[in-house]
Amino acid sequence: MSQTKPRVLAARRFPPNVEARLTRDYDATLNPTDEIYSADALAAAAEGHDALLVASSEKLTEEALQRLPDSVRIVATFSVGYEHIDVEAAKRRGITVTNTPDVLNDATADITMLCLLGAARRAHEGETLIRNDAWEGWYTTMLLGVHVTGKRLGILGMGRIGRAVARRARGFDMEIHYYNRSRLSADLEQGATYHEKPEDLLRVSQFLSINAPSTPETRKFLNAERIALLPDGAVVVNTARGDIVDDEALIQALKSGKLAAAGLDVFDGEPNLNPGYRSLENTFLMPHLGSATHETRDAMGFCCLDNFDAHFSGKPCPTAL
Ligand code: DGY
Repeated sequence: MSQTKPRVLAARRFPPNVEARLTRDYDATLNPTDEIYSADALAAAAEGHDALLVASSEKLTEEALQRLPDSVRIVATFSVGYEHIDVEAAKRRGITVTNTPDVLNDATADITMLCLLGAARRAHEGETLIRNDAWEGWYTTMLLGVHVTGKRLGILGMGRIGRAVARRARGFDMEIHYYNRSRLSADLEQGATYHEKPEDLLRVSQFLSINAPSTPETRKFLNAERIALLPDGAVVVNTARGDIVDDEALIQALKSGKLAAAGLDVFDGEPNLNPGYRSLENTFLMPHLGSATHETRDAMGFCCLDNFDAHFSGKPCPTAL
């Protein structure tokens, strides 16, 4: 790297270890209040910077990218998902975009199992009984849930996170089925059953785990018509992106009993989720905690910084999109 440190605008607050390395190696502008920049404020704040460190809260549309100063040559997003960035528009403007694949596979797969088990075993209702001091005693039919062992788990999107979910679910003796844009090699499939059409996956999924990215093709994928294909009493788990689900359709199916339960870590429009989810007892809800472990969030930040280090040393960025 040259003598003068490159100037990095950190659009959000980042974990202490990440900010420590960022301020050690770069001329960094931090965001100590963590207030989310409007598009105007981001363009203004980016003046005089060579790089942006953002998260999924920063919507870098083509227009927002156009407004960035010419000095900005790289944007690293602290996320594996990059639906908030128009990557093609960035490329046209000569801006490299990087994300954080791999480092969050395990944490996200863990939270998927938490949502799956929490929904199936009625964790929200059980916890509420105790916290409200309303538990009057054990009885044989109290809060009976959906049995997990031996059930068919359909994984929509068998990428790195989907495969990490499959590894965990095998430990629960679940039978793994999946849909992916292309079939995996036998080595990666590990005996899972591939379905050529997502609808065929739905038909067998006693549990459905959504692990696909948000793209124009997946948005509102799980609508009323497709929910109808799931076996009665199925459990839906979403730890990918909220906009893959049609909220009204899912809420209706949870109310009618078509679905037994849903475990959700992500929501369309979050944090302003559809209020219908809150009033249902058969939902297990988490505030987008998929990658929220100390180790994972540090690794995500370090991945962003590794990309800056490579970029400013004239090397290829390890996780450029
Ligand atoms: C990701 O990395 O995409 C997580 O969902 C955090 O945004």
